[in-house]
Amino acid sequence: MAITIQEESKLFSIHTRTTTYQFKADENGYLVHTYYGSRIEDDDLYQQIPFVDRGFSPNPYELGMEDRTYSMDTLMQEYSTYGTGDFRITALRVRNVCGSQAATLKYVDYEVKPGLPVIPGLPAIYGNEGETLIVRLLDECLGLEAYIYYAVLEDKDMIARSVRFVNQSNETVWLEKCASMCLDLPYGAYDFITFYGRHNMERNLSRSPIEHGISEVGSVRGTSSHQYNPYAMIAEKYTTEEMGRCYGFALAYSGDFAMEVEKSQTDSIRFLCGIHPDEFTWRLDPGKNFDTPQVLMSFSGNGFAELSYHFHQTICENIIRGEWKNKKSPVLINNWEATFFDFDKEKLIQIADAAKKLGVSLFVLDDGWFGKRDSDREGLGDWFPNVNKLGGTLDSLGQCIEDKGMKFGLWFEPEAISEESELFRSHPDWAFSIPGRNPALGRSQLILDLSRDDVVDYLTERLREILSSGKISYVKWDMNRSICDKYSRVLPVEQQGEVAHRYVLGLYRILERLTEEFPEILFEGCSGGGGRFDVGMLYYCPQIWCSDNTDAINRLKIQYGTSFCYPPRTMGAHVSESPNQQTGRRSSLKTRAVVAMAGTFGYELDVSRLSNEECAEIQRQVEFVKNYENLLFHGRYYRLSSPEDRFVAWEFASADKSEALVSVVYYDVEGNQPPSYTRVRGVSPDRRYRVYETGWNGENSFSYVLSGKTLEHAGILLPTPTYEGEAFLIRIEAL
Ligand code: GLA
Repeated sequence: MAITIQEESKLFSIHTRTTTYQFKADENGYLVHTYYGSRIEDDDLYQQIPFVDRGFSPNPYELGMEDRTYSMDTLMQEYSTYGTGDFRITALRVRNVCGSQAATLKYVDYEVKPGLPVIPGLPAIYGNEGETLIVRLLDECLGLEAYIYYAVLEDKDMIARSVRFVNQSNETVWLEKCASMCLDLPYGAYDFITFYGRHNMERNLSRSPIEHGISEVGSVRGTSSHQYNPYAMIAEKYTTEEMGRCYGFALAYSGDFAMEVEKSQTDSIRFLCGIHPDEFTWRLDPGKNFDTPQVLMSFSGNGFAELSYHFHQTICENIIRGEWKNKKSPVLINNWEATFFDFDKEKLIQIADAAKKLGVSLFVLDDGWFGKRDSDREGLGDWFPNVNKLGGTLDSLGQCIEDKGMKFGLWFEPEAISEESELFRSHPDWAFSIPGRNPALGRSQLILDLSRDDVVDYLTERLREILSSGKISYVKWDMNRSICDKYSRVLPVEQQGEVAHRYVLGLYRILERLTEEFPEILFEGCSGGGGRFDVGMLYYCPQIWCSDNTDAINRLKIQYGTSFCYPPRTMGAHVSESPNQQTGRRSSLKTRAVVAMAGTFGYELDVSRLSNEECAEIQRQVEFVKNYENLLFHGRYYRLSSPEDRFVAWEFASADKSEALVSVVYYDVEGNQPPSYTRVRGVSPDRRYRVYETGWNGENSFSYVLSGKTLEHAGILLPTPTYEGEAFLIRIEAL
């Protein structure tokens, strides 16, 4: 039993394998947070809350004038509310018909259910395991109920939180801010760790001390964004990969979000996470309900590696669905960086033929195959194959690829529309724009209003028709701009604040229908590379193109940051040409492949123009990846160094600890190079292992036998690089 409840004292404890989360409905009726951290007993930690004079902070009226020790402004709370005496950042702000923004939530009752909750229209952890605690709170004055959900995956140390609001009154209320969770930590010196970036350089790690004041990351771009990822951590100051207390929070949502942290006047820390309150107001009519997105929350007392493992396991087993959940994606070739828009059938076949010889098994036709689309200024929305450019029908091209023994994949950007398109000419009102204003263009395009049912239905139908041909095995679902001018022509004035969230619900609706109808198709998410890399998208697309930046050296940093929450198998990663198109950097074919192997692995260059030597090496790479498929797909992933170091190293270790593969890429070489070592993880201390450097064909240089204990504690000496960016693979095999 993960959830234990002491009925008398109304103490709720959620125990997972190694963590405990605890709160209490106290005598005053408030839901008070008491603990989250390493697993403890059911001791009532409410006793440890100091009730001292808080007369200069508001005290609830019902406690009278005598008791000034109780204040919402200093209390640790499960779900804080605005306007009634808590002046910190708060989880809930509502507006009622009088214009007041205040709320007070008090405990009503609870329910424990076996299994995991379904959140209508939104991604959520699923599976045949788990237990859910639902606590009902009520604002009596508003008649507004809040059901706080805690869905627990005991073995994975994961708690998924969400809130359902139900309007039980006779009047409308407007939700202006409703976070998916609130977490109060009573004390501690913590850092706030977030992942910032930009197009072509996503998910750089930022770590800064939580000082008095408020810090926030988030997005109001309509997508989760390149700029900030909806994953954040709070970690004790000295936390490293292997030690220290740390908390992780991943919002399963692909739109506007906010993650806020505040250190209060009493040095406690509050973390909030949910839909961004800007451009959000939800009209909740009598009898209606509203569900927040779910946030996945975990804790580790043993550093970042273990925390990442909790998220990787949960994403692989309780987020990714369908046929591709346990199936390794095929090694693919994508024509984008090879041709951009400039291709014809002959060119495509040339690339496919060459790729086939290299062992590649999926050919992906990227942008430019539909409507009139010879540049990124036109054609989006016209999802009809351009038979002239394709030299025939899409089916015949698909057939031609299949006849070569390869699968065929296709690029789409369904959410976008070019002004220069048939779709725009017939439905200009389907694109977001504000009456009386010209909408801003992004990559010369506009965005379709997916808050509208007719638009959602049209797109679903259009894609359904193309995918029904049976020739398409893979879809790259792209989305190439931030959304502004969010205004829907079909919603009344007082519901315009719902557009951004309704857009995400519309997107999820299309994806749900298509992935259900075409379970055999592998969907890869994309948004100008990694602009929508989140748990929400992974519920529909088991992998996401990690970045438009394919430079192996930049990718080290991008994939490193991404790996804190997301498993390598979800990261779209390809070998592209050298010099790299985004950075101009030259890197060896080996380095490019070693880096792409920490992701889905594929190629994105004109393979028909490679030298015989390069072709031979690629053949060996593809063979190597196929041989290591199991380890790369199912193995436990460890970061062994960080981009701050001279080299970046990572490791895949098998669950039974019988084998591992360590990858090393040197950022830098220096004269009189100092030696580099790394400790190895995921091995069994009592077994002995053979360690050797491997090339694509097998053993390359040095080989020795060491015990697991030695590997873990003394580590191994790494090969010395002879040029900048040199990569090595080190194989570890149990005897
Ligand atoms: C985006 C994607 C690229 C490519 C282009 C096509 O930038 O991230 O991989 O598909 O669009 O226009």
